[in-house]
Amino acid sequence: MTWREYHEATKHSTESLMRSRHTLDWAHMPDPFRHYDGVPVLDLPADPPAPEIPALEVLQGESGATLAGDGGAFLSQLLYHSAAISASKRVPSTGYKYALRVNPSSGNLHPTEFHFATRGLKEWADGLYHYRPSSHMAEQRSLGDFTTNLAGAAAPIVIVLTSIAWREAWKYRARAYRYCLHDVGHAWQALSLAARALGCRSYAIGGFSDDEVALSCRLSEDEWPMLLVAIEAPSVVLRAPDEHETVWFGGKANRLSKETVSYPAIEGIHTATKLDSLPGQPGSAEVPRDGSGEIRLPPPDSSRRGFGAVVRTRRSALDFRGGTESMTLAQLSAVLDAATRPLDADFAAVRFVQLYVYAHRVEGLPAAVYRHWPERGELEQVRPGDQRVAAAGLSLGQDLAANACVAFSMVADLDRADRAHGDRGYRYAHFEAGALGQRMYVAAEALGLRATGIGAFFDDQVHRYLGIEREQGQVVYHFAIGHPVPDPRVEA
Ligand SMILES: Cc1cc2nc3c(=O)[nH]c(=O)nc-3n(C[C@H](O)[C@H](O)[C@H](O)COP(=O)(O)O)c2cc1C
Repeated sequence: MTWREYHEATKHSTESLMRSRHTLDWAHMPDPFRHYDGVPVLDLPADPPAPEIPALEVLQGESGATLAGDGGAFLSQLLYHSAAISASKRVPSTGYKYALRVNPSSGNLHPTEFHFATRGLKEWADGLYHYRPSSHMAEQRSLGDFTTNLAGAAAPIVIVLTSIAWREAWKYRARAYRYCLHDVGHAWQALSLAARALGCRSYAIGGFSDDEVALSCRLSEDEWPMLLVAIEAPSVVLRAPDEHETVWFGGKANRLSKETVSYPAIEGIHTATKLDSLPGQPGSAEVPRDGSGEIRLPPPDSSRRGFGAVVRTRRSALDFRGGTESMTLAQLSAVLDAATRPLDADFAAVRFVQLYVYAHRVEGLPAAVYRHWPERGELEQVRPGDQRVAAAGLSLGQDLAANACVAFSMVADLDRADRAHGDRGYRYAHFEAGALGQRMYVAAEALGLRATGIGAFFDDQVHRYLGIEREQGQVVYHFAIGHPVPDPRVEA
């Protein structure tokens, strides 16, 4: 299977929805929490202090300060503000309570697992760990230096993000691989922003040998390594690395459901996008097409809301208040600025995703669809007029895309990603879309608004509506921002 075949086969259309009659098999819903049982489990200090640097400043590339502490305190702060449980929801009819996390996830199914290797952190043994969000603890799977091997150079912390596709496929079937990739993009930026808020830099590595990483981390076979994130921890938490030999505890991965269903299309796209060895130089680094628009964006709005509070209270809106409440053009400018800042990764020197903006209620901006040209800070009108019916219709009839103040289509130049990185580029374009989404979630929340990622849309109808030819790209993600309706099920 090629990425083109997979992408085509997993497009939504009215016909494909009519054909598919999928009911959720609740008896075999995969457990959202992975454990590697039988290994030492280490506490991460509870309630780590919240980074107070304004979230918008972090999005603009400013760094916060590291609070002096040992390795455990630092890891706790990092994960508490990127991957931990942050709230819960109660289903009124049954009383059933389920967890919500700092990082969002399609269907709240959380296919992404966080493993991390450490080297030379004070009071924290060098080794390989798996993060247990259910109790904010670290499972110690091995002692030894894994970071050098993983990142190609010594790094104090390397996070290995893996996907368990079955968690997502249980609900979304073959299309689920796309959501797994988005999820990784969200998790990457959740980590990268938290690292920056703590005064650290991070660098993501998408080009690695999949099988080698899976083997060296002894991952359960249902977990696929997707992205490595190397974190430069500040000197305050560093000491000389341990010198002993590698010791393995390993642990037995819990079974997530009694039965699993295999999806050949998911196996196919995963195999097609795997690398056997380290990649060479990327192919042609063509610069994306440049364009301009008739509307110049004003300077981005500002907000003093602190990073810790923003990311711990970030939520997806179930729906938005669709009445007369609007957002300002300066707020939209801040969201777009946050979305299009540089990303630190081996695949992000050239960007693949362009934003189309369905402006419903943005003060000073006539209702229309616009294409965003980030280099010039301009919006180019693509279609005039009220876009509410279109935005909801294209998003599989989801009202939230109409009731928001603004909705988005993210269009990725998948062919250019292929020319630069081969089949692996399919992953990168989706990581980028997820990363943009995460940055927009955080920006919206900092501005007193709320966002929702939208993975469900009628692919080719979007292309027709926006007049996008195949060589210009394909839609990979939708998004909405506005004033949320309250969700009484959320408990802090
Ligand atoms: C990639 C992605 C796709 C999503 N697609 C939809 C969608 O189509 N419709 C929707 O209402 N929510 C969607 N969501 C929002 C999730 O349902 C939400 O993140 C999840 O329930 C967890 O809630 P939280 O974001 O408040 O933590 C999506 C989220 C992500 C990350």
